[in-house]
Order: sequence, then structure tokens, then C-alpha cells
Amino acid sequence: MSTSALSMKGAAAGQKATQRHANPSTQYAAKVAESLALLQQAVAEFNPVTQASSLGAEDVVITHLINQNALNIPVFVLETGALHRETLALLERTQAHSTAPVHVYRPANEQVIAFVKTHGQDAMYESLALRKACCQVRKLGPLAEALKGQRAWVTGLRREQSSNRAEVPLIDRAEDASKGLLKLNPLANWTWGDVWHYITVNQVDYNPLHDQFFPSIGCAPCTRAISLGEEFRAGRWWWEDEAAKECGLHAQK
Ligand code: ADX
Ligand code: SF4
Repeated sequence: MSTSALSMKGAAAGQKATQRHANPSTQYAAKVAESLALLQQAVAEFNPVTQASSLGAEDVVITHLINQNALNIPVFVLETGALHRETLALLERTQAHSTAPVHVYRPANEQVIAFVKTHGQDAMYESLALRKACCQVRKLGPLAEALKGQRAWVTGLRREQSSNRAEVPLIDRAEDASKGLLKLNPLANWTWGDVWHYITVNQVDYNPLHDQFFPSIGCAPCTRAISLGEEFRAGRWWWEDEAAKECGLHAQK
């Protein structure tokens, strides 16, 4: 079955991601408390700290925790110029409703124009090197700007997301140590069911692409819906090997 046919089937059945996935683990309440405690610790000990949000399910949970608890953690979004319209619409709604400031970082226009002029719109499908070069221009350049002057950043990484992420710690002191940065992963221990239970009980606004079988959402050209039984990140850079499927925001161990 094609991915669009699968999406149509889900949509026709009227199944929302909240209905499909909400399923708290037995440790759910303890995990929420652990995540909140980490965010509070971040404000107290690791200031200035900022949240990196892709506006995916994990990230809307974290922004909700920040806002509900009036934590001094501004949010930033890397708007690559290649996001889905659904993601851009959620960005606008988040900017309108979040009490924590939501900063948007974009790639340098001239670099994007030069890259596309030299390599074409579809360069990412041609080789791993070109795909990484596109991520460098559209994501990693803006990320470096967003992290300037920060002591720590908060991400939505979870261990369950992939084998590459199976050992993600709550506090990662190693990955960005050379830059003097801590990476905080408050949802490291959460299951997908925990994430959707939180979204459901707290009525958190989320990206409607999740209703259409997109568990993991990045740039539009590099993200597709997944089929039943496929891995969580199967829809990201689906033409590449499993080991390559990171864009450089998160180093691989
Ligand atoms: S990626 O490296 O493959 O793109 P993924 O989409 O799984 O990462 O997201 C993991 C975490 O990286 C998110 O929870 C978020 O903290 C951060 N992140 C990813 N994309 C963005 C983005 N466009 N803007 C800000 N943060 C992002
Ligand atoms: Fe470019 Fe795709 Fe990387 Fe987005 S995910 S920056 S479109 S290669």
C-alpha cells in the first residue's frame, strides 16, 4: 500500500494520533515529575538555557511543561525554509500562545540560493554528501546561531526513537562539551504512548501530520509517512541507510 493510501485510510477512519497512540506506561507520573525536575534544575543551575523545538510531538510536550510551570526557558525553532505548511502553521500558533518566547532562526538566504543554484532543489537525494551539505546550510548554521551564549539546550530526544538514540542520557555532558554546552533530554525515558498520553490529557496543540502517520517530522523533502510495522524514523531520509539517518543536530556515538 502506498503511504498516501495508508494516510487516506487513517484519515477516513477519523483516527487521530491521540486516539491511536495515547497509552501511558506504568511509570508515567514519575517520568513527568523527572522531566519537570530536570527543567527546573536547568533554570536554577544551567542558565541561560533554551529549548530546541522542531514542533514535533515531543517538543510540544516540553514547551507545554515550560509554559505550565512558567519556566524561564525560551524556545527556538530552526525554520529551514523547507518545512511542511502544517509545521509552519503550528509555529505561528505556538508563537501566538506560548508565554515563553519563541525565536525563529533561518538559514542565510544567499547560502540557500547559492546551494540550490549549484546543486538543484533535489540535491539531497543525489548523495549523502549533498544531503549533509543541505543540512549544514539549512540547519547547522542556524543552530550555531541559536546556541550562541547558551549554557544548555533542551531537546526532545528519546531512547526509544532509534538504535542510535538508545543510550540518550537525561543530561548529556559529553556531546557538546567542546563548546561548553550541556544537552538536556527531559523525555529520554518516555515512551511514544507517554508522549501522546500527555498531549491528550493536557489538550496540547500538535502537528496534524502526526494524524497522517508521520511520527517523526523534519523538512518536507526528507520526511514521508510510515507504513504499519515500519520503524519510528523510517520516514526520515528513507532512501539512506539506517546509520546515516541523523542531520548533524545530534552527534552519533
Ligand atoms: S533530527 O536530527 O533527526 O532532525 P529529530 O527530528 O528527531 O532530529 O528531533 C530531535 C530533536 O532535535 C527535537 O526534539 C528538537 O529538540 C531538535 N530539533 C530537530 N529539528 C529541529 C528544528 N527544526 N528546530 C529546532 N529544534 C529541532
Ligand atoms: Fe535539506 Fe533535507 Fe536536511 Fe532539510 S532535512 S536541511 S531539506 S537535506
